[in-house]
Amino acid sequence: MIGQLEDILAQLIELRERAIAELEGITTSAQLDEWDTRYLGRNRGELKNISAVMPKLTKEERPVIGQKINTVKAALEQALKDRREALKQREMLQRLEQERLDVTLPGRTLPAGHMHPLSRVIQESTDIFVRMGFQIVQGPEVETDYYNFQALNVPTDHPARDMQDTFWVAPGEILLRTQTSPMQIRSMKRQRPPIRVVVPGKVYRNEALDASHEAVFHQIEGLLIDEYCTMADLKGVLERFAHEMFGPERRLRFRGSYFPFTEPSAEVDISCASCNGTGCRVCKYTGWLEVLGSGMVHPKVLREVGYDPAKYRGFAFGMGVERIAMLKYGVSDIRLFSGNDLRFLRQF
Ligand code: DAH
Repeated sequence: MIGQLEDILAQLIELRERAIAELEGITTSAQLDEWDTRYLGRNRGELKNISAVMPKLTKEERPVIGQKINTVKAALEQALKDRREALKQREMLQRLEQERLDVTLPGRTLPAGHMHPLSRVIQESTDIFVRMGFQIVQGPEVETDYYNFQALNVPTDHPARDMQDTFWVAPGEILLRTQTSPMQIRSMKRQRPPIRVVVPGKVYRNEALDASHEAVFHQIEGLLIDEYCTMADLKGVLERFAHEMFGPERRLRFRGSYFPFTEPSAEVDISCASCNGTGCRVCKYTGWLEVLGSGMVHPKVLREVGYDPAKYRGFAFGMGVERIAMLKYGVSDIRLFSGNDLRFLRQF
C-alpha cells in the first residue's frame, strides 16, 4: 500500500498549495467563508474527503497520514485566520477612506446678534448710577391716573393730561404711563428713606411723530430721598453721570425750569460734543444740548406719600434714553431706534 500512502501525501501537498494560492486572491469575507467551507468544511470539505480514506489504511500508515492531515489543517486554519485579519484591516482602511471627514473645512458660522443701542445706553447709564449707590427698580407701564399725575402734583386741568398726550386705557382712571416718574411715588410708598433708585422703562405719548418724537420711547428716572440732601448733591450726581457717559470734558448747565413735582426745577444741558460748546448745526449754534429734567422733590409730593418735608428731602431727575443715545452716537432721527433696519443696527 506504499503507493497509496504517497498518493495521499501528494494530494495533501497539492491541496495545501492550491488552497493557499487561492486564498491570496480572495478580497471579500463572503469569499473567505466560501473558501472555508470548501477546504475545511466538516461535511464535504476537501480535507475531510481525503481523511475519508483513513479506515482503509493500515495501523502503521494511519498515524503518519493523520499527523500530516492535522499539519495541513492547522496550516490552512492559520492562513485563513491571517487572511481574515488582513481583510478586516483592508476593509477598515477602505471604509475610513470612503467615509473621510475633512475636519479642517471651515464650519458654518451662526450670525451672532448684539445688544440694541438703546439697551446698551440703559445698561451703561444704570451701571453708572449703581456705582453711585442707586438701586435699579422697574414699574408697570399700565398705570393709574393717581400715580402718573395726581400724586405727582399734576392738577386735573394740567395740559399734560390732555387727551392729545395721554393714551388712556380707561379715560380719567387708567393709562399708559407718560413718564417713569410714577415710580417715584411707588418707591417712596414701598420703602422708607434713605432711598436711591433709578427706573429705566418704556413710556407712551399720544404725539405727532417726527425725527425727534416717538409715541413709545424710554426714560430713566432717578430719585434720592434722605434727611440731608441739597441741589449740590443733584449736580454732583448728574455731573458724574455726564462725565462717565459722554466723557470728562463735557460740561453741564442747569437752567431754571418748571415741573409740577419738583421745586426748584432745572433742565440740564450738556456742552455740545460736536463743536465743544462753540456753536454748530447740531446744537443749533447754542453750544448746548438738553439732556434731562430734574429738581428737588416738591414738598406736596413728599406729603402725599406720608413723608415729613421738614425731615426728608430729595432730588429727582428724568432723562430720555433715545435722546441720550442720539447724542452719544450722533443719530439724527429717533425713529431709527424702533425701525429694526439692520443697516442701522449693525453700526453699533
Ligand atoms: N417726567 C418728566 C418728563 O417726562 C421728566 C422729569 C423732570 C423727571 C423732572 C423728573 C424730574 O424726575 O425731576 O418730562
